[in-house]
Amino acid sequence: MSGKNKMSRRSLLIAGSAALVGAALRPSALGAATIEKRLIAGPGIAHLLGPSGAETAVWCYNGQVPGPEVRLLQNERVRVSIDNRLPQDTTIHWHGVRVPNAMDGAPDVTQAPIGPGGQFVYEFDVADAGTYWYHPHAHSSEQIGRGLAAAFIVQETQPIPVDRDIVWVLGDFRLNTDATIAGRFNSPMETAMSGRFGNTVTINGQVPEPFSVRSGERIRLRLINAAPARIFGLEFKGHNPIIIANDGQPVEPHAAEDGRIVLGPAMRIDLVIDMNGIPGSAALVADTFYSDLAYNLVEFKYSNESPLKDPGRGTPARLPANPIPEPDLRRAMRHDVTLEGGMGMAGMMRMMSGQPMWSINGVAAHGHLMGPALTLSRGGSYILAIDNQTRWHHPIHLHGHSFRVLTRNGQPTKYREWRDTVLIPPLEKADIAFVADNPGDWMFHCHILAHQEGGMMSVIRVT
Ligand code: C2O
Ligand code: CU
Repeated sequence: MSGKNKMSRRSLLIAGSAALVGAALRPSALGAATIEKRLIAGPGIAHLLGPSGAETAVWCYNGQVPGPEVRLLQNERVRVSIDNRLPQDTTIHWHGVRVPNAMDGAPDVTQAPIGPGGQFVYEFDVADAGTYWYHPHAHSSEQIGRGLAAAFIVQETQPIPVDRDIVWVLGDFRLNTDATIAGRFNSPMETAMSGRFGNTVTINGQVPEPFSVRSGERIRLRLINAAPARIFGLEFKGHNPIIIANDGQPVEPHAAEDGRIVLGPAMRIDLVIDMNGIPGSAALVADTFYSDLAYNLVEFKYSNESPLKDPGRGTPARLPANPIPEPDLRRAMRHDVTLEGGMGMAGMMRMMSGQPMWSINGVAAHGHLMGPALTLSRGGSYILAIDNQTRWHHPIHLHGHSFRVLTRNGQPTKYREWRDTVLIPPLEKADIAFVADNPGDWMFHCHILAHQEGGMMSVIRVT
């Protein structure tokens, strides 16, 4: 076959695959279905500033920011092939999904990094329903900062009744005045402080337009914080959002204590909101997490349609629990985990000498490959007593497991919620507990990406 023919055959294949992109192929046979997806990570163009705004050159999955949503049913199997057309290594991590270790996407730890031009196929069963997301785990700060992130939704086989199921992937980009993405990822100063903040907050890849709702409808709103550093604290003015899941895991339905929905980077919250405004009215969703940087994220705009008939709903039902093993707290072995680092006298010295800024139990990661900080026996129950001795917030994520948050600063939490990422405020503590039931080497790190790449990452081995 001549070179030219090879070329055209190749472009045919690509064209064919482009047609398949985003299409979920569901076999009609009975039994657990396998959902197939093909992803291409590469350069693309996005309209972060809205359809009429300037274009932004991004890195993205299948030409879109966020990437294509993967949506499947609990207990289905998914097979995702990824082609790397980026100029650097990548991998995909299925954040919060309890996958077998080899499918976890930790470069040099669970797989070789996927080099430019390379390919990898991920395949796993999805045991837990809930709201998850996927993103690269190599050069995360730059790759997520340039647009590589997407929702991964696992529907309950019997979902709770709502009128609409909505996903908001929250993004935060730093744009230059010409709408290009600012460079200089992992600058030492930002790394030493709160990480890389953007100046352009997006919902599903665009600066939010007013969001249309109908009076009387009940929506399920799945929030995903895909920002590299920004913590969101959302106030739904005039509404009473009910939290039904954290990080995909069902929780006793409840309102947030101070009414504010707080999500650190990588965290997800599922809300049920009864849209109780009158037709034609509007209501703001404000982000007030940083009091000096408060802004209005988006506006709910009620249509003039007559209200949907109130079906007398009341508190939403609790979602069915996922099959996560319950830690045995009487037998659990306790380990201390100390977070240190950041700007300060010692930090200034570290920064000047080019040392990593952050550490876990005294060890600062240089890349992913490292000896385990902890080795846990498979099937054992463990408590990690995490002590944030820094003056910054850290959303701490454990791969391969969900854990219960038992206490904060020694006080029992009200809901003992399951999470995969726990936000620990400055100089505070949190005890988490889980059964180490998933064998392998699992990353354990801060999800402020500049902190992660600045040393706040370790490995927990389950053997
Ligand atoms: Cu969302 Cu280790 O990552
Ligand atoms: Cu951190």
